[in-house]
Amino acid sequence: MFSLDSLRNAFTSNIVRSATKANIPPPKADDASGPPINLMRGWPNPALLPAELIRAAANEALSDTAVVTDGLLYGPDPGYEPCREAIAKWLTDFYRTQGATPITASRICVTGGASQNLGCMLGVFTDPAYTRNIWIVAPAYMLAFRIFEDAGFADNMKAVPEDDEGVNLAVLRRGLEESENEGRRNGADRPMYKPDRKRAKVYKHVLYCVPTFSNPSSRTMSLEHRTELVKIAREYDMLLVADDVYDFLQWPTDMSTDGPLDAEMQVAHLPRLVDIDRDLEGGAERKDADGFGNACANGSFSKIVGPGVRVGWVEGTEKFAYAVSQAGTTASGGAPSQLTSTYLTTLLASGNLTTHINTTLRPGYAARYRVLYSAMTQHLLPLGFKLPQTDRKIFGGYFVWLSLPAKLSAEVLARRCRDEVGVIVAPGGIFEVPGNEKVMFDGFVRLCFAWEEEVRLEEGVKRIGEVAKKMLEGVEESVRESHADDVEGSQLNAFK
Ligand SMILES: Cc1ncc(COP(=O)(O)O)c(C=O)c1O
Repeated sequence: MFSLDSLRNAFTSNIVRSATKANIPPPKADDASGPPINLMRGWPNPALLPAELIRAAANEALSDTAVVTDGLLYGPDPGYEPCREAIAKWLTDFYRTQGATPITASRICVTGGASQNLGCMLGVFTDPAYTRNIWIVAPAYMLAFRIFEDAGFADNMKAVPEDDEGVNLAVLRRGLEESENEGRRNGADRPMYKPDRKRAKVYKHVLYCVPTFSNPSSRTMSLEHRTELVKIAREYDMLLVADDVYDFLQWPTDMSTDGPLDAEMQVAHLPRLVDIDRDLEGGAERKDADGFGNACANGSFSKIVGPGVRVGWVEGTEKFAYAVSQAGTTASGGAPSQLTSTYLTTLLASGNLTTHINTTLRPGYAARYRVLYSAMTQHLLPLGFKLPQTDRKIFGGYFVWLSLPAKLSAEVLARRCRDEVGVIVAPGGIFEVPGNEKVMFDGFVRLCFAWEEEVRLEEGVKRIGEVAKKMLEGVEESVRESHADDVEGSQLNAFK
């Protein structure tokens, strides 16, 4: 007999694979019919990829003998030094309101992207026997689950639900307290598989989140909750891993702003967890702290350049960045993505990436968001769909998260949208943390506005509205109660 979890996993990988990895052709700008409208795929819009800029940066790098030699040899463990410096300066410019101290290259380790680096950090900083739990702010980026499983945490992933300020801190505290009590009951610290390594440490807890323009929920964590979270992390020997991959894509929610985007949008609107951890009460240098810090920013060029470049960075304390760089795979293979990081260096140092973000990506994604928003206002909100955090002045990222009108099942809606009107949406259930039946999301869907062109976004939302309307009128049994008995079978069948 299959367990619900194993079925859920099969279902999840099925739908995720079919909607994110299958060879669905790229969208055409003026085609509202054609292939299925894919509002699930969280990829950058092909028309917004900076192909010309990459070509120029690559040419420049490849025609400089010293650079190309560095690029083609093993990279230094923390990454190509000019790239670390360029990233540090670029981050300082963007996060500059959050403190006068510039971000130094010594705080940066170049990575192969946020996913690769998450795996790498779990290898360095966790131990499946000693590290109690991976706390995951939920709904969560579903492809992270397997990375935690691979690191030995399949049975220790704990969902922490979001609230209107981004994370329910009371639930987190309660869970941490229970875990401490259990530890006390079971005696002293648990053994570790890993030997004592001076270059690294093992944290007792890890919390994974996307604090800004979250995937999938589009929520942004408030400053108060960020600060409190850092305090909690310090109290419980917890590492906060923040996938800060959407921060640069922000725009005002004021729909009248059609012209050039305000200069304010060129600076981050909130400090990251890593900024707070650096500045709060003496940072990682405060008395009795071990210097590794309690937060890191797991950054990526995937959403602002292209995932194919496979370059990202992680920022943390100097000790933390050094520890990441000393992972066995890096010590053996050198910095990941060494050659492409020489291209990225030119792209950053020339200012071309900043210009591309300011003049192409922000206006491009803002325009798509506005089209989607106005279509939702016309076709979905009147049916009872709802958005979270509606009072925000700044929105960003790739996604919107909608709660469904009473009793509709997202899984049924997603299946029917796909089968009846050729629209692919992500049902909330795939963002549930495996093994956490109390934190469920079948009453939600995620829509991505990045991949498809504007005309298809509008058409896609209109079609979702048609299906939802039929379901609400009770044309067929579609309410969650009736669906509940059959949940296992439909999970397998829904998205083959
Ligand atoms: C929150 C989050 N983290 C990580 C990734 C993947 O990042 P990368 O391509 O750098 O591995 C994504 C991509 O969708 C994401 O949304």
